[in-house]
Amino acid sequence: MDRMTRFETPLQIIELDNISRFNNILDIGAGGEGLAARIGKERVYGVDIRIDEIRELQTKGVNCNWAVCDARKLCFRNDVFDLATIWFSLMYIKRAEDKVQVLNECKRALRKDGVLHLMDAQVDTDKGVFILNARFKLPDGQIVDTGYGVSGQQKQTFEWLQTHLIELGFKAVEQDVRKHWFRILCRK
Ligand SMILES: C[S@@+](CC[C@H](N)C(=O)[O-])C[C@H]1O[C@@H](n2cnc3c(N)ncnc32)[C@H](O)[C@@H]1O
Repeated sequence: MDRMTRFETPLQIIELDNISRFNNILDIGAGGEGLAARIGKERVYGVDIRIDEIRELQTKGVNCNWAVCDARKLCFRNDVFDLATIWFSLMYIKRAEDKVQVLNECKRALRKDGVLHLMDAQVDTDKGVFILNARFKLPDGQIVDTGYGVSGQQKQTFEWLQTHLIELGFKAVEQDVRKHWFRILCRK
């Protein structure tokens, strides 16, 4: 595998849901562009393993309830959140068993009938690096353009995630599967 080769998607236009109708929102991998925090603000508990990601968003005025924490072992009690968002964060967690552990932790922290809202890239390439180019449209009209670059040495597809969500006991609600990314809503 040549780590210097890369696969880059064309620009993906992605409309984000208005999650602020939920009260307590857990956002996993909340750094980057801070998309969930920009929408849900004080309703969001934004978890990131890297404090520098959080600090950067704070300097840009993006705020929520930040927590520096490894999503494989969440610093929250059982059954507390109405919604858990994982938006283009699992692609940053390379090992399959770590991805599954994060999903399991989200399930633990969600209340009964709580919703998991997962959006992520279809990473299935023989290149060393995978880059998803995206333009996000937020419910208030804000536009966020970004590129998420990760290791291509992983296989993360909709089918793979769907299988694991079912194994973990989530019930499917809605899905939207595109060539380069997907959106899954399911219930605890
Ligand atoms: C680039 S962001 C993904 C997009 C982000 N949700 C947004 O709104 O733009 C991915 C984040 O996941 C974080 N991350 C990676 N592994 C993690 C883990 N085990 N626990 C928590 N956060 C993690 C990274 O530090 C990074 O900030």
